[in-house]
Amino acid sequence: MHPIKISDLRFKYEEAQKNILDGINLELAAGKITAILGLSGCGKTTLCYCMCGIIPHIYHGHLDGEILLFGNPLHKMELSRIARSIGIIFQDPDTQLFSPTVEDEIAFGPENLCLDREEIAQRIEICLKLVNMEKHRFEHPENLSGGEKQLIAIASVLAMDPDLLIFDESLAQIDADGKERVKNVMLQLKTLGKSVVLVEHDPDNLAIADDIFFLKSGKLEAINITNKREFDELYKI
Ligand SMILES: Nc1ncnc2c1ncn2[C@@H]1O[C@H](COP(=O)(O)OP(=O)(O)O)[C@@H](O)[C@H]1O
Ligand SMILES: [Mg+2]
Repeated sequence: MHPIKISDLRFKYEEAQKNILDGINLELAAGKITAILGLSGCGKTTLCYCMCGIIPHIYHGHLDGEILLFGNPLHKMELSRIARSIGIIFQDPDTQLFSPTVEDEIAFGPENLCLDREEIAQRIEICLKLVNMEKHRFEHPENLSGGEKQLIAIASVLAMDPDLLIFDESLAQIDADGKERVKNVMLQLKTLGKSVVLVEHDPDNLAIADDIFFLKSGKLEAINITNKREFDELYKI
C-alpha cells in the first residue's frame, strides 16, 4: 500500500488569485526516500501541509482532489489520528522545540497519546538512541547546536511512531556535520521500513533519495538527476 496516494489535488489559499497546487498526482513508494524539489514559493510546504492534514484542518482554502493516507481518505481523519501515521519536521527546529529538557520534549507526543509511563520511557530511549543523542537527555534544547536541535525535533516526532516522515527543508539551517547526522537518521528510518519525504532545494542532499519529483506550476513531475549541471538546468526559468 502507498503511504500517500494523491489524486488530482488542487489547492488555492483563501485570498490567492490562482491554485498553488493544480493537479498533483503522486503515489509515494513505501519504505523509500522520496525527494520533492522546487523553486522557493512553488508550493512545497503547501503540499506538505496537505499531506499531513494541516490543510484543511488548520489553514483553510479551496481544496479539491483526494489524498489517501495508508488507504484512508485524509480529509475524513482527525488530526490526532493523522499524527499517529505521519510526522513532519520543519526547517527551523526552534519552532518545534518548547520543553525544558530533551527528555520532556520527546515525551510530549506520547503523553498526549496517553500512553503508559513504561511505554513512554521506552520510546524516549529508543528515539534518543536512533538519533544518537542519548548523552543529551537531560539538557535544555536551547543549549544544543542547530543540528542537534534538529535531531531532537526528529526524535520527538519519531516518539509518535509514525510510518511516514516528512522533512520540509529540514537540512537548510544546519551545519555540514548536522546535515550528515540527519541524513544518516533518514537512511536508518528507511532500514526500519519507514517512508520518508525529503523536501529539498540543495542537490548535495539528494544522493540519499530513491525517487525525485519536481514541483512546478502546481504539478509534480518525476525526474532523474545524476549531476549538478542537470540540476541547474532544471532551475532555469
Ligand atoms: N497561509 C497562506 N496564505 C496565503 N498564501 C500563502 C500561505 N502560505 C503560503 N502562501 C503562498 O503560497 C505560495 C507557496 O508557498 P509555500 O508552499 O510556502 O512554497 P515553498 O515551500 O515551495 O517555498 C507562496 O506564494 C506563498 O506566498
Ligand atoms: Mg517551504
